[in-house]
Amino acid sequence: MAEKFQLDLPRRPRRLRRSAAMRALVAETQLRAADLIAPLFVIDGTGGPEEVESMPGVRRLNLRDLQAEVEALAGLGIPAVALFPCLDPSLKDDVGSRACDPDALVLRAVRAVKEAVPEMVVITDVALDPYTTHGHDGILNEAGTDLLNDATVEVLCRMAVLQGEAGVDLVAPSDMMDGRVGAIRAALDAAGLTDVGILAYSAKFASAFYGPFRDAVGSASAAGTRLLDKSTYQLSPGNRREAMVEVDLDEAEGADIVMVKPAGPYLDIIREVRDRTELPVAAYQVSGEYAQIHAAARLGWLDLERTRDESLLAIKRAGADMILTYFARDVASALARA
Ligand code: PBG
Repeated sequence: MAEKFQLDLPRRPRRLRRSAAMRALVAETQLRAADLIAPLFVIDGTGGPEEVESMPGVRRLNLRDLQAEVEALAGLGIPAVALFPCLDPSLKDDVGSRACDPDALVLRAVRAVKEAVPEMVVITDVALDPYTTHGHDGILNEAGTDLLNDATVEVLCRMAVLQGEAGVDLVAPSDMMDGRVGAIRAALDAAGLTDVGILAYSAKFASAFYGPFRDAVGSASAAGTRLLDKSTYQLSPGNRREAMVEVDLDEAEGADIVMVKPAGPYLDIIREVRDRTELPVAAYQVSGEYAQIHAAARLGWLDLERTRDESLLAIKRAGADMILTYFARDVASALARA
């Protein structure tokens, strides 16, 4: 009889994976409902909910349905929502005038959320794309070839003050104009809104993964394309160092939280930002990341729940302290059942 073959190994890492209990003990990263921010699309009037075809399970909500939704989210332990208004095309123009309407839909939505769930952290985007006919985040130059940086920032400051006055906790400039974080901080402070924070979309890449979102807010149909080219302001997907320049500037200008977006295809950027700053780091798992998991699951090619959970765990492991994700409600429900 040959002797039983046995390697002479002092270290056998598999010992720590032998049982579910042991694996739980050594788990390094865990998803919690408290890490999640739910992006929500809002519409005016009493209609809806309207399904967003390219984002299964995501619906545009009127303000009443929005209140019911945030109550459910709060019940699941989700601490924050990010609100995105979907305007009727007739309200859009080439300079996004409605962005500074004191009765703007998004401002009424903020008040509706705070009325329903006062403790919910409310975040609003500061950018013009829901309001412009061309779907860009700011004001175009005369030739229509680029955005006017400083003229756009002036409008963003007015938007941020209106949002602060409506009761948001965090304004989230998603426009990538130069100098906007500092200008918005100064405008908020000048209006006495010193408690309103800034969640800066700092490393926001010019990504094809935003396509379904542009369907959801209607910036694609307004512009006639969902592949709007925003590369004069959003980062080139290959540029890691340039992303760090943006993060450093936003921190120096007074951002309270910095964000990386998209999340899954940019895990290296999330890790580098996490190692670079002491500020909290947010990551945005964007519409296209959500859509591709759903699409593959529909075809039976991927398991929806497991892929969803793994995609979010990876974003957290990379260093995100909080994650904006369209899966927020589903994940929190699953965690509550577990
Ligand atoms: C626009 C904005 C975008 C997203 C959030 N804010 C799209 C864009 O830059 O065109 C994308 C979110 C998503 O894809 O889920 N300021």
